[in-house]
Amino acid sequence: MTRPPKLLIFDSGLGGLTVFAEIAKLRPHADYLYCADDAGFPYGSWKEPALVERVVTLMEALIAEHAPDMAVIACNTASTIVLPDLRLHWPNVPFVGTVPAIKPAAERTRSRMISVLGTPGTVARDYTQNLIAQFAGHCSVTLVGSQRLARLAESYMHGERVSDADIVAEIAPCFREEGGRRTDAVTLACTHYPLLIEEFKRLAPWPVEWIDPAPAIARRADQLLGERFGAGAPGDGPAARRAIFTSGLQPSGLLATTLARYGLGRDFASTPGAGRA
Ligand code: DGL
Repeated sequence: MTRPPKLLIFDSGLGGLTVFAEIAKLRPHADYLYCADDAGFPYGSWKEPALVERVVTLMEALIAEHAPDMAVIACNTASTIVLPDLRLHWPNVPFVGTVPAIKPAAERTRSRMISVLGTPGTVARDYTQNLIAQFAGHCSVTLVGSQRLARLAESYMHGERVSDADIVAEIAPCFREEGGRRTDAVTLACTHYPLLIEEFKRLAPWPVEWIDPAPAIARRADQLLGERFGAGAPGDGPAARRAIFTSGLQPSGLLATTLARYGLGRDFASTPGAGRA
């Protein structure tokens, strides 16, 4: 293949940037289209059938218009419910999902007390329950569905003030002590949360291992790309990085500066046919 592969990275908002950043480290010369469904944000409280329909409809427009070689659903809330539908509709597009990193948490914990911090949608999913049953049977698992953290992470990325008290209130339920043992691993089961990782570390009542699956997801995407298109050698050709916001709003001010740090500053575009949810 002479042209660089084109990757679509999709999330409800800016959380997918945490996954995009890791993939771009491994594949700096790929073309990237980052799509934030900000018109539908937050996904955490959507009912499952409506969310499936929303994502499939958006994907239809995105795939028709941009013909990506791979789509990364950089959102746990969506991945834990829509991946089977996406794979059924587009059997020729490889989809890489983002699901709660329960296995690594269960492998690394010493206290056998782990917490899964995600959106209310993600922690309620059968998919999450199945991962726990499959990989964490020996652990006490605390599921924490945060109503506000994804929004706080968005505010943070827009350069707005986020108070310590607000963050503490959301992460506090992850920290449990029981019979001389205490939580020592917390899975970040929402791609927005690693955006606040330094705040989590600073505000945690005791140190824990925060598990961000983004590097593992990036390795998986890189491996699949390697199988289809070969290794991404430096100097493969000119690459494009564009961001799309389904609201049609153009990022301004601090957000534009933040996106530019990810190389997403050059060519913002809106998604036809998306519109407000
Ligand atoms: N970033 C998304 C996730 O990984 C969810 C944020 C939201 O829209 O509630 O679950």
